[in-house]
Amino acid sequence: MSEMDYIKELAIDISILEGKKDQTTKKIAYVRSYVEKWLHVWVNQPTIKSITFIDAMCNAGIYEDGGLGTAAAVSRLFVSFAKRHPSIHFYLYINDQDTRRVETCGNLCEYLAAEVSKNVTVYWADLEVNEFLHRAATTNVIPGGYGNAVLLFVDPYNARTVHLTAMRDFIGSRYSEILFNWFSSDLTRNKNDQEIIDCFDGLDIPQDKNAARAIANALKVEPMKLAFSYAFKNRMNAELYQIIFVTPSQKGLEKLKDALWEVFHGAQYHRNSWLPEGVQTTLFAESEFEDSIAAEYSYDARTDLIEAFSGQSNVPFARIKTFILEETMLKASHVLTYVLKPLVEAGQVKKDGTTKRSNNFKADTYTFPLLEGNKAL
Ligand SMILES: C[S@@+](CC[C@H](N)C(=O)[O-])C[C@H]1O[C@@H](n2cnc3c(N)ncnc32)[C@H](O)[C@@H]1O
Repeated sequence: MSEMDYIKELAIDISILEGKKDQTTKKIAYVRSYVEKWLHVWVNQPTIKSITFIDAMCNAGIYEDGGLGTAAAVSRLFVSFAKRHPSIHFYLYINDQDTRRVETCGNLCEYLAAEVSKNVTVYWADLEVNEFLHRAATTNVIPGGYGNAVLLFVDPYNARTVHLTAMRDFIGSRYSEILFNWFSSDLTRNKNDQEIIDCFDGLDIPQDKNAARAIANALKVEPMKLAFSYAFKNRMNAELYQIIFVTPSQKGLEKLKDALWEVFHGAQYHRNSWLPEGVQTTLFAESEFEDSIAAEYSYDARTDLIEAFSGQSNVPFARIKTFILEETMLKASHVLTYVLKPLVEAGQVKKDGTTKRSNNFKADTYTFPLLEGNKAL
């Protein structure tokens, strides 16, 4: 069945459906791509019992053009994983304060997952998002604890709806990861807006372009420790929002970067196209240029790395990889080829040789020169 047919098949009232802009299509593709990679990681954990995806502001699950929203796209992904992993339970929690939208979304997600209803369950609620997050944090409705993986997606229209403490309380309540759509353009346009400031809940968030980083840091509630944010811009090159990702796991960050390269082919940000959807405009749209794009990023990445670790010795490979993943566009498979090996070969960084095998870069540690004007940490 084509996607358009779901509207007919489920007799969905199109008056509640929204149109979809370029950035929405890309946002959904990006989140979907990450969820797929995240599922591959978790289904291979021997102790995994349940996997939960939450769209706390889910909309109707389908758009006017028949394209699926994030929750419905995840429901479809769940089907293929649930069939192959019958002992794992997959939960889809969706919420939207618009009752008609969330009901439509719930019906569609259940319809898509009907053939695996034994181990896929869809739950829905029509609560105000902060209330939903509060209830989710303070009850056991959503699985948590050892053997239960949780990914929370929070996707508002603006910066004046979702409170940072509501998200912090949820992600502090159980092992989870978060994707938060930070609507930076709202803050740029309305610097002194009290509703936006209230959403910071007294946390120290600068009201400028550094806000995204500060928000990511505010979401690093224990055990969250790694973050990356990716910007979406309009056709005039003005930033609309940043999708902020925060995770406790290095693997999570690696998979997110893989998803970014898969969907955006290494472009530093998404920019809406002047051309109709599907018509490619830039070099970045071509995956064959990925190597040269990675090589371009690597000049700055090498300089940033040397500056960040100036004067330090015995630096494990894992710390170097984390730095590159969090601070640059490069992904895990680029770290050795484009950053570390060239620095070692040029004698700029010393491979300590603590491993028996000289070609084992990942098990070794590294010594960085002390740059002039920099103090060793
Ligand atoms: C950008 S859309 C979500 C799109 C969806 N996550 C997707 O990827 O397909 C935002 C949704 O948030 C809902 N919403 C707006 N304010 C809300 C609030 N305070 N509480 C709960 N839902 C809200 C709207 O009804 C709308 O459906």
